Amino acid sequence: MRILSIETSCDETAVSIIEAHGDFPHASYEVLGNALFSQIDIHREYGGVFPAIAKREHAKTLVPMLIRALEEGQLLMKTEATLDQEASSELETLLAREPGLFEALTNFLEHHACPDIDLISVTSGPGLEPALWVGINFAKSLSYAWDIPLVPINHMEGHILSSIFTETTIPEIAFPALTLLISGGHTELVLIRTWGAYEKVGETRDDAVGEAFDKVARMLGLPYPGGPEISAHARIAREKDLPVFAKLPRPMIDADNLDFSFSGLKTAVRYAIEGTPLSGDDVASIAREFEDAATEVLLHKTRRAIDAHDIRTLIVGGGVSANTHIRDTFISSFKDTHPDLAIFFPPRHLSTDNSVMIALAGHAHARDARRFSEMKDLVANGNLSLA
Ligand code: KG4
Ligand code: ZN
Repeated sequence: MRILSIETSCDETAVSIIEAHGDFPHASYEVLGNALFSQIDIHREYGGVFPAIAKREHAKTLVPMLIRALEEGQLLMKTEATLDQEASSELETLLAREPGLFEALTNFLEHHACPDIDLISVTSGPGLEPALWVGINFAKSLSYAWDIPLVPINHMEGHILSSIFTETTIPEIAFPALTLLISGGHTELVLIRTWGAYEKVGETRDDAVGEAFDKVARMLGLPYPGGPEISAHARIAREKDLPVFAKLPRPMIDADNLDFSFSGLKTAVRYAIEGTPLSGDDVASIAREFEDAATEVLLHKTRRAIDAHDIRTLIVGGGVSANTHIRDTFISSFKDTHPDLAIFFPPRHLSTDNSVMIALAGHAHARDARRFSEMKDLVANGNLSLA
């Protein structure tokens, strides 16, 4: 089975094609094409992601990413095919709200043959709704034009699969498993009894941890996205063994539950630096203390969840799981306290948003795929939940 996937939930425009032999999760996989355009340089100028700009960039970039993914997979075939009036007006309706995309897609369809693809999967949430809609309308258009079934995917399930994917297989998982999902929009602990059976056992009560990294970075005068910046400065502070600039709280660390709170941590940074000119070393020291605080809270709550639910496998996913300090701390700490626990972090290139993970989730849900006529009403859901 060949799956074409589309991801536009935030600031990455991504299209992939994978080939799966066998049923999920025991299949063998080959990534045939993987095209990703990161809008980070565009959003950096504004210090964060603006949904309207993300939407415009997705609309501009989807057809070039589709062409690149098909080309990589040697599935791009030129032909001359005129779209009839009915097809053209259906596509025009589907893409009425995506400026320029109708023209670009029509032009593409009139010059290329339908590729040998069995399924299209698309992120339907959670994420920024204007951004999600572009991907959904594009996926519907392809499903219609090529008559290929379509399946909607939860972005967070994609992150889980991204974290365990070996490039050719989904490894055998010992259940119950726990996933810690940490990204720009999410901080949650989800129990996985088996594939598809999810139960949220903890979550943030205010900001997501990635959001806190981004906001603290901004306060410290560091560019967007803040996660990698904080991480780099924290490393400098550790290497130089700089003194602590200000001790920060570990919010909710001792609370008898599995929830998180990061907005107080962010505010504590604001108070600590207010009215004080900061040297480079000060910035590094604050970055380290912030990263330490966030890591300790994440570790503590994750350990609590593991003990409460007799967890055998831990899967950490989402953009913040790229953080080296969080990875190293988790791995070394659980080695001491839970030596039998299997721990998965994503490979670097699949830790932030990508579409390979949406193709894998598409394979997991291949049975839920429907033809375009039954998928016409598919909507974006910015708050789509896993459980
Ligand atoms: O999963 P993702 O790519 O997009 C969302 O679905 O939100 O996560 C993006 C988030 C951003 O907040 C970014 O600052 C954070 O992941 N991030 C990091 C690192 N790399 C990305 N946070 C901490 N350390 C990193 N190395
Ligand atoms: Zn994400």
